[in-house]
Amino acid sequence: MSGPATETRFVVAIDGPAAAGKGTIAKAVAKHFGFAYLDTGLLYRAVGARALLGENPVEAARNMETGFLNAPNLRSAEVANKASEVAALPDVRSALFDFQRHFAQRSGGAVLDGRDIGTAICPDAEVKLFITATPQTRAKRRFEELKQSGTKIDYQTVLKDVKARDARDMSRKDAPLVAAEDARVIDTTALDIGQSIEKAIAFIRAAQNANL
Ligand code: DC
Repeated sequence: MSGPATETRFVVAIDGPAAAGKGTIAKAVAKHFGFAYLDTGLLYRAVGARALLGENPVEAARNMETGFLNAPNLRSAEVANKASEVAALPDVRSALFDFQRHFAQRSGGAVLDGRDIGTAICPDAEVKLFITATPQTRAKRRFEELKQSGTKIDYQTVLKDVKARDARDMSRKDAPLVAAEDARVIDTTALDIGQSIEKAIAFIRAAQNANL
């Protein structure tokens, strides 16, 4: 039985490879439309960080709490690589499934970004966006970010990491990174962030109008 509580539900699923701009776009559209936002990569990063401290990743995923997402080192390259590794474990993915579904089902609208939101977590999302860019463009952006945050790393290492993460995220058996068939693709290689956000907003607005 469906009740009025679901009436204002509106899910925007945003997927794509590392450093394509999906986080920035997701945050901006959530703010624009007044929707709640969940960076699902942070869930895997939080599990990765706990695994680096010696915790069993499946246990860490089962015990996931919002507070874990504020751990200080979640954006480091070391944690990113571990996150990609633990994300290949089906038991980790299934342990994080309910957390994400629950978030998506809140009323008032929700934006989730990740790798499998449109394909596995919210296949019924009202809007699906797939944000991508060439590996070189993404590595260059990530390199600039890391440099600005004071991390000593060279571009070739970042490019190698980006490619290795892509390969792992795309080739895993469980919920690999792939655009949903009904996703709108936004290639940000030749776009600046403002243009990318505008495109995303236009797709969401069109879907809202179609749903009226
Ligand atoms: O988006 P990110 O770089 O913070 O994600 C970190 C890792 O987590 C990434 O390598 C793949 C994994 N991930 C995933 O498998 N599924 C998601 N929905 C989000 C992230």
